[in-house]
Amino acid sequence: MAKLRVAVIGAGFVGKVHVENIRRQTDAELVALADQSQEIASAFGEHLGIARAVGDYNELLADPSIDAVHICTPNATHFPIAKAAIEAGKNVICEKPLAMSAGEAQGLVQLAREKGVVHATSYNLRFYPNVAQMRRMVATGAVGDVLAVQGAYSQDWLFYETDYNWRLEPEVGGNSRAMADIGSHWCDMVEHVTGRRIQAVCAELMTFHPVRKKPKKAIETYAGKLLQPEDYEDRPIATEDFGAILLRFAGRARGAFTINQVAAGRKNRLVLEVYGTKCGMAWDGEKPNELWIGRRDGNNQLLVKDPSLLEAEARTFADLPGGHAEGYADTFKQFFRRFYAACRDKSLAGALPTFDAGLRQLRLVEAVLKSSQQGGWVELG
Ligand SMILES: NC(=O)c1ccc[n+]([C@@H]2O[C@H](COP(=O)([O-])OP(=O)(O)OC[C@H]3O[C@@H](n4cnc5c(N)ncnc54)[C@H](O)[C@@H]3O)[C@@H](O)[C@H]2O)c1
Repeated sequence: MAKLRVAVIGAGFVGKVHVENIRRQTDAELVALADQSQEIASAFGEHLGIARAVGDYNELLADPSIDAVHICTPNATHFPIAKAAIEAGKNVICEKPLAMSAGEAQGLVQLAREKGVVHATSYNLRFYPNVAQMRRMVATGAVGDVLAVQGAYSQDWLFYETDYNWRLEPEVGGNSRAMADIGSHWCDMVEHVTGRRIQAVCAELMTFHPVRKKPKKAIETYAGKLLQPEDYEDRPIATEDFGAILLRFAGRARGAFTINQVAAGRKNRLVLEVYGTKCGMAWDGEKPNELWIGRRDGNNQLLVKDPSLLEAEARTFADLPGGHAEGYADTFKQFFRRFYAACRDKSLAGALPTFDAGLRQLRLVEAVLKSSQQGGWVELG
């Protein structure tokens, strides 16, 4: 059978991760990339060894030989590009957040259903083997009834006022930053692992740098450390560096987490703890191959990722034997494998974080913003 023909739109930080992990698939081939100008696209094409590199994604959407596109551009462009891609009949993976508002995301969900394309939002962190294991441990009853969910998502790449990126500009990144950018990964993981929905949130958001120094020239994500003082201008900042958020689930389960993009020393630390009536589980995204399992009566365990020790369903998320670490890039490999399988057989789309997952997270983002602005709890309905 011919391989699926795939294009990447946006070849910055995460676009390159997509490129590498499309190339690890047996069922798909990377045939083109688009970026925001021909000059940028050609430079990325040469760097990444992609012969067809174009400065307008519409050229790729008009090509009937392309089966799927991966949208890896800044947030404000997701909605128009995804809409155009669906209308062109392409299967679509869109980076998170799916859109700038829940309203936009709802429109994409409806359109994707109408057109019958396969759709996914890039909540790739679900695809770590030990995250799949946590989900199975809740589903099989090994954790018991979930009582409390705790955690944090902390980074330090926006620690200094001179740290700058398009994510800081609401017109490009959206009205929420830390929550939409990293908090949504945490909430998606919590709902995925526990199988429980967050019913209400109570949030306080904080902007520690109300003014930042914006570089006078464009820079790629994470590349700001190379600039000099004269290269900056002041820019007021309205989006949050930090958030503390309480969660209410259906039944008696409760939760709390923090999001922090100015946490000195924390590079990209997603910590999730789930405490049930039988045991506790703790996972740290900076040590993804380890899963702590805690017990009141008996020894605590540290499960080191090993396919032979994982639940059968979680085992399919691990390609390497025990002792051989699997990390961030591998989550995309696992995600894309399932996406392409669903492109062949739509009945497999249940394995994906679909656009519905993207819509869900935007509803949570909007509830968190509303709670912080108004003070007090906001129900998700
Ligand atoms: N799932 C994850 O783990 C993860 C990680 C990082 C980023 N992301 C998401 O991926 C997206 C991109 O983030 P990034 O950090 O890679 O950004 P980036 O700034 O490093 O790269 C963005 C790329 O898109 C290009 N671009 C901008 N407008 C375009 C347009 N109209 N058409 C084509 N190309 C265009 C830029 O030139 C650049 O090459 C964001 O939505 C972000 O939230 C997700």
